[in-house]
Amino acid sequence: MSKIKIYGGKYLSGTIKIHGSKNACLPIMCASLLNRGRATISNVPKIADVYNLLSIFSYLNVTYTFTDDVLVIDSSKLTYSDLLINEVLTFRASYYLIGIFLALFGKCKIYYPGGCKLGERPLDYHFDAFEAIGYNVNYNDNIIEIAGIPKNEHIDITLKGNSVGATINIVFATIFLNATIHNYSLEPEVIDTLDFLGKLGFKIIKNQNIEIFNSIPKRSVKYRIIPDRIEALTYVVMALLCGNIKLENVNLLHIDYPIRTLILNNADIIMYKNVMCCNKSKVIPFNFEADLYPKIPTDAQPLFSVLFLFNNGSAIIEDKIFKNRFSAPLELVHLGARVTAIENKIITNHSIFVSGSVRAFDLRACAALFLFAIASPTNTVINNYEIIERGYDDFLKNLKSLGVKYEIIE
Ligand code: UD1
Repeated sequence: MSKIKIYGGKYLSGTIKIHGSKNACLPIMCASLLNRGRATISNVPKIADVYNLLSIFSYLNVTYTFTDDVLVIDSSKLTYSDLLINEVLTFRASYYLIGIFLALFGKCKIYYPGGCKLGERPLDYHFDAFEAIGYNVNYNDNIIEIAGIPKNEHIDITLKGNSVGATINIVFATIFLNATIHNYSLEPEVIDTLDFLGKLGFKIIKNQNIEIFNSIPKRSVKYRIIPDRIEALTYVVMALLCGNIKLENVNLLHIDYPIRTLILNNADIIMYKNVMCCNKSKVIPFNFEADLYPKIPTDAQPLFSVLFLFNNGSAIIEDKIFKNRFSAPLELVHLGARVTAIENKIITNHSIFVSGSVRAFDLRACAALFLFAIASPTNTVINNYEIIERGYDDFLKNLKSLGVKYEIIE
């Protein structure tokens, strides 16, 4: 298992450029297969999930070049293959290939997608929709197999609950049909994917519902991915805990609510166009529920939980999206964190920490543990720290440039 030792408590300062959004980039890369042509995508993060998806593309005769942050994908020779390959198991977003394959080939056989373990992560919204389109869905714990012929009529689908992944997957699966999708997810990553499809030439109208009109895509497209709002919030929290950090290439609109909530609670943050200057602050812990956009995202919940442990006061935190997503703050209990779990909530209190080791169980928990280790005036070993590479481009390089002292142990 990978291990890193962080010598915490240093004052940090510097400038960080935020990369493109992981959760927008992965579906957009999948969508680039739909035109069986060329897609030039910029602001692409160099992260493990992107490389794993590219590796799946290679099995499908899709070629690419990836220079700086520009990915050029050529899907003109795309061929069908069952997706019973290990890369599918390494990240959640591999499930977007189901919607793409149904649109292009009318079938898909794929390993059940892996990714962060955030408690139960069912795919029933996806499967219900595929059945409503006319497909037969069969699955067990390991393999999903879907095939059939779409109904020859307007498809009307209502999502049972809000889901980023299901919204995008249903759009993909119906992209060559006429369809209406009700109760869709409004997260910026969904909107970015719809914007990409629009640029690709698909006729999609989004108002109260998403309306899809059967259309033929262009042979080539150029598109720039939105900045990663979770990466931005990670460095915001790092600055509030440890020093002053200037962030560039931020989309302020996408993090407006969480940032305003932090400012209302004493965070020293100045914003201008796509730049933010964040300074070490005594943030007052506040109660919150991680919830749908534009609220505080579930992916930022572990980051805020760790922030509160370093500040005077107590807060009640609930995660409405992934109800038990508290592995990071609870992992810190044996190093001194005053965290209590009650039903689906945690209560955080100001804590004094000791040196020791912790283990990262998922990507954002790993980011939260890094924040802890950097801020605490102790030495912390993070086991399994390489998970960070799934979602944060240049993370260790950025830490070094800000003044973090660390040592990779194995
Ligand atoms: C995506 C993001 C993830 C983020 C999450 C919520 C990617 C690759 N991942 O995950 O980082 O934390 O959105 O913003 O983009 N649900 C069901 N049945 C389904 C689908 C979802 O019950 O078929 C539930 C989930 O268990 C969860 C909630 O709906 O409680 C939201 O999940 P969803 O938005 O689908 O998350 P993901 O798309 O997997």
